[in-house]
Amino acid sequence: MTRETFPHEGALAESLARRLADAITAQPSIVLGLPTGRTPLAMYAELVRLTQAEQIDWSRVRTFNLDEFVGLGDSEPGSYRAFMHERLFKHVNIHREHIGFLDGRATDLEAECARYESAIAAADGLDLVVLGIGANGHIGFNEPADTLAARTHRVILDDATRAGNALWFRGDVRAVPREALTMGMATILSARRVTLMATGEAKAEAVCAMLEGGITTRLPASFLQLHPDVQVLLDEPAGECLPIRR
Ligand code: GLP
Repeated sequence: MTRETFPHEGALAESLARRLADAITAQPSIVLGLPTGRTPLAMYAELVRLTQAEQIDWSRVRTFNLDEFVGLGDSEPGSYRAFMHERLFKHVNIHREHIGFLDGRATDLEAECARYESAIAAADGLDLVVLGIGANGHIGFNEPADTLAARTHRVILDDATRAGNALWFRGDVRAVPREALTMGMATILSARRVTLMATGEAKAEAVCAMLEGGITTRLPASFLQLHPDVQVLLDEPAGECLPIRR
């Protein structure tokens, strides 16, 4: 894993947006795995700005988001699908049918997870997956546990994860769904390239353990040590327990 530390989260967002814009220009039919959360907000805003300023063409880009809450569909506030529409998709010329998303309202959730794996495989896999990280070391919604699931699956969310997502539900943690669907560890690790972004001191412990600790199901992000091409982008507070290398 390589890591870069930026003086503040705005600089990180600008750098990652630039890299994604360049990746799309270099490979117009790129297949992206995309995150939601507070961390990528500034990056998506900058990516939209770059797209409009430089007329970056998204018409052949395909995307697959990492995860979605069970019970929430396209237009429901709080759904990750609605988040992505507002922050990115409605601002770029991506084709609707090129947007891959787990449907948290599917009647057969197991079949929905299998459909998602097939859709990613049919797209010839993920070229680049962008990740955030939970303060407990989760990636996507792969929560710390005795065992982790390889492929897209249904999960019960940790209380801490639900609390971390309350901001998408007017601060009301009781409104955050108790379950979600997420790409599995192998789905993520099968991506050809991985970029993980983390900002703020609340992530510092998980980031340290991910980079320097042992590989453990108790910190799902630690499995990224097994991947040959991972970039970790940090702001100074998130990297604070590490010597800063620029
Ligand atoms: C959420 C998402 C993750 C995200 C992480 C961090 O629960 N499922 O994909 O990376 O937690 O979120 P945030 O960026 O808001 O801290």
